[in-house]
Amino acid sequence: MKATRVAVAVLAASSLLTVGAQPVRAVPAATTAPAAAGHGSHVKTLRQAAPRDLKIGTAVAGGGHHLEQAYPDPFTYDRPYRKVLAREFNSASPENQMKWEFIHPERHRYNFGPADAIVRFARQHGQVVRGHTLLWHSQNPEWLAEGTFTKAELRSILKQHIFTVVGRYRGQIHQWDVANEIFNENGEYRQENIFIRELGPGIVADAFRWAHQADPRAQLFLNDYGVEWPGAKVDAYEALAEQLLADRVPVHGFASQAHLSMRYGAPDQLREVLQRFDDLGLHTAITELDVRMDLPAGGVPTAEQLATQAQYYKTVLDACLAVDDCNSFTIWGFTDKYSWVPVFFPAEGAATVMDDDFRRKPAYFTLRQTLADAR
Ligand code: G3I
Repeated sequence: MKATRVAVAVLAASSLLTVGAQPVRAVPAATTAPAAAGHGSHVKTLRQAAPRDLKIGTAVAGGGHHLEQAYPDPFTYDRPYRKVLAREFNSASPENQMKWEFIHPERHRYNFGPADAIVRFARQHGQVVRGHTLLWHSQNPEWLAEGTFTKAELRSILKQHIFTVVGRYRGQIHQWDVANEIFNENGEYRQENIFIRELGPGIVADAFRWAHQADPRAQLFLNDYGVEWPGAKVDAYEALAEQLLADRVPVHGFASQAHLSMRYGAPDQLREVLQRFDDLGLHTAITELDVRMDLPAGGVPTAEQLATQAQYYKTVLDACLAVDDCNSFTIWGFTDKYSWVPVFFPAEGAATVMDDDFRRKPAYFTLRQTLADAR
């Protein structure tokens, strides 16, 4: 932990404890921008407020659940969306556009267009890119999920995919989520992952080795949800990370996705979890933060709910700021208009930091203030 960061983080924590209790307008979400401390009035965005060694990112909306909604591709078509994306963030994560089913829809055909567009946009706007993802049990194309392959074929398919996709963006990706959600809640390897099931867990190390060969500068991550509190899953990742490092496998980081629900408490032990991986010499990151809530009839969150949500966001940011090599903090979308949450959790929503009309909620201002204080 850097001494200066600790000091500012402690100060920030103590000076901001009241934020959650501040009155906020319930309908719509608060739109008045409190001044960002320490920087004067020029600090207007999250990326301006962020400490220099912390990337502040968002998922770039497209693919996945968006395909079934009554709007066109958000990243491609929504100009106000693109403006906010460029203005607020200096890191971008393709939400779906680099997943197997999008980028490798047929065995011998890749579809790089949507991912290329995001990488180009990021370069034009001074943003880094987080690549997502290479080895996952979900959103795999039918030809892969339903196919019949020998072990040698399957191994070669994965190797070629990694060399092709990682190689294409060589030098342009800050961090790759190489292995995504590979353990279940009990800390056992997920058998739904075709590569792990058919080839055994050793394939995880190979995926990291291939990704490193394809892009030696990218930081390579383990990434999962449900690791915000200590438990079997965290233990499994710690044991795996230790083993990979002992075997000199090029693994560089461990990330908490941080999909949170206000039905459960704020993740007050996240800092300790991240610190365990920092102690191993790994980078850590928050990669998919959102905080969903049960919506009242009418669908508009109350002021109290928004204040509580802001505290959850702050708990996660504080954890990252307190850990030395937590250098990337990403929220899974910035507007409720495009959030995956209501699609998966029908009674819940309002999980992001802006409402459907890009009006900033208390969570936005709390994040910006906390970043400005840390800087
Ligand atoms: O592919 C099926 C299609 O065959 C079927 O007809 C259709 C009917 O509903 O569903 C299609 O699946 C959709 C899938 O994307 C494929 O593109 C799902 O409905 C849709 O909900 C899904 O959404 C994405 C989800 O990952 C899939 O797990 C979301 O857009 C995306 O935000 C979300 O992101 C994940 C991260 O990558 C990893 N961590 C968790 C996070 C949230 O689930």
